[in-house]
Amino acid sequence: MSSTFEDRVYWVTGAFGALGAATVKRLADAGAHVIASSRNVDTERFADSPRVVPLSVDVADDHSVRAAFAHIEERFDRLDGLVTSTNVAAFGDFLDLTDDDWQRVIEAKLLGSVRPIRTALPRFIEQGRGAIVAISGRGGIAPPPNHFPGSSVNAALDLLVHGLGRKYGPHGVRVNAVAPGPIRSPRFDAMASAQAGDEPTRLTALDGPGTPEDVAAAVTYLLSDDARFVTGTRLYVDGGGPPYA
Ligand SMILES: NC(=O)c1ccc[n+]([C@@H]2O[C@H](COP(=O)([O-])OP(=O)(O)OC[C@H]3O[C@@H](n4cnc5c(N)ncnc54)[C@H](OP(=O)(O)O)[C@@H]3O)[C@@H](O)[C@H]2O)c1
Repeated sequence: MSSTFEDRVYWVTGAFGALGAATVKRLADAGAHVIASSRNVDTERFADSPRVVPLSVDVADDHSVRAAFAHIEERFDRLDGLVTSTNVAAFGDFLDLTDDDWQRVIEAKLLGSVRPIRTALPRFIEQGRGAIVAISGRGGIAPPPNHFPGSSVNAALDLLVHGLGRKYGPHGVRVNAVAPGPIRSPRFDAMASAQAGDEPTRLTALDGPGTPEDVAAAVTYLLSDDARFVTGTRLYVDGGGPPYA
């Protein structure tokens, strides 16, 4: 991969989650400045990466998102890309999940991606350059039976990314999704325990589950200039999905 990240500025939401944190680290290691946001910020997490700026942001609150963007503008006067990687856990049987469970996922992940994208886009359009990557999920095409809220939101995000990629491509803005399958993380463990007994003997065609670093590699590719002709699409990082029986 060519070194396109030196001194660039990226904003990663959900940055203290498993996949967000791996992405923050990879970008910072490549020389980028990274605004790492979540509601709960652990100032020690990236203490060995002086280019990482932790920032407390609630993506369910448009005011908080706009305040974060204003802070980034003031501090760096630059933004090259955005990664959205927020979600909350809402696993369970369809008949047991409540409106509140659905709404929490929609707020944290769908609107939680829409808000930072909507806030950063005018800057990208104005400068004629910018890359956005939303973390969706393989459930968007093959929903696990205990994961309908998250999977539905993944499908919606993939559709949004496709539309945004086509709409803002002429402005030089690229918008893509990374759709992970099972990735070794607390979230994966929570989902696996919610469907205990249902797991196939082998999760993925390639030896899996994957790692957060596998996802971070795909995200940084899509942010990089190497992906300059790639927009409006979704890149699966899912080990090929479940193998044929
Ligand atoms: N892990 C997997 O196997 C897997 C597979 C497919 C898709 N994905 C998707 O990949 C993304 C990241 O997954 P992950 O495993 O890294 O999840 P995670 O560890 O649960 O991280 C998600 C982060 O989102 C943050 N968040 C939630 N609500 C927020 C809000 N209102 N405002 C700001 N931040 C908020 C949380 O931090 P705070 O609570 O501190 O805010 C949390 O650290 C998610 O969208 C997930 O659905 C993961």
